[in-house]
Amino acid sequence: MSRFKFLLEALKNFKEVGTVTRSGKALCRKITSFITKEDKYVLELGAGDGAITVSILKNMHPEGKLLCFEINPNMVEVLLLIDDPRLIVINDSAEKMEKYMREHDIISFDGIVSAIPYIVLPKELANKIITLCKNNLKMNKFYLQVHYAKTKLSLYTKAFGNIETFWVLLNVPPAYVFKCVKRD
Ligand SMILES: C[S@@+](CC[C@H](N)C(=O)[O-])C[C@H]1O[C@@H](n2cnc3c(N)ncnc32)[C@H](O)[C@@H]1O
Repeated sequence: MSRFKFLLEALKNFKEVGTVTRSGKALCRKITSFITKEDKYVLELGAGDGAITVSILKNMHPEGKLLCFEINPNMVEVLLLIDDPRLIVINDSAEKMEKYMREHDIISFDGIVSAIPYIVLPKELANKIITLCKNNLKMNKFYLQVHYAKTKLSLYTKAFGNIETFWVLLNVPPAYVFKCVKRD
């Protein structure tokens, strides 16, 4: 999807997309610096047109599964063009993750990457999705969240009890990556 088409799609659906640009290279690099070939089952939430998806696929296990949720059907059309047998694209909302985990024989995840704009979602839904993420993550594994502000930090500290913050200046707009680890 071109930058312009992404912008139009984002403007049409601002309450779901929460930004007007896709993640840039520096942001994708930061996120995938935490993903290794050991990570066999990965979950991506709010994949958009696949900017981060492609980088995750490059770094993760060669025979793994990437379960990827996106609610916007026009973005999903573009995601479906990514030719990789590990990628499972789901055109549904993230809170249904357990249904699709069962369908695809995934018991738990080695890593979760989310760009869902919780800032524009109802609070109960945001809490529900983050709790599901924690429940379905393996112990000592990571949850990564992209945000453009620090206002929602408490959502993650409440669920995980820990958080590391990384600022990516070379993104438009500059972005944060929050990294939480499942410790209990
Ligand atoms: C900020 S964009 C990020 C797109 C892409 N990951 C990137 O970094 O360029 C957030 C995406 O989350 C999707 N989204 C919002 N709510 C969602 C939900 N409940 N389940 C799945 N995707 C959702 C939006 O449609 C949008 O494409």
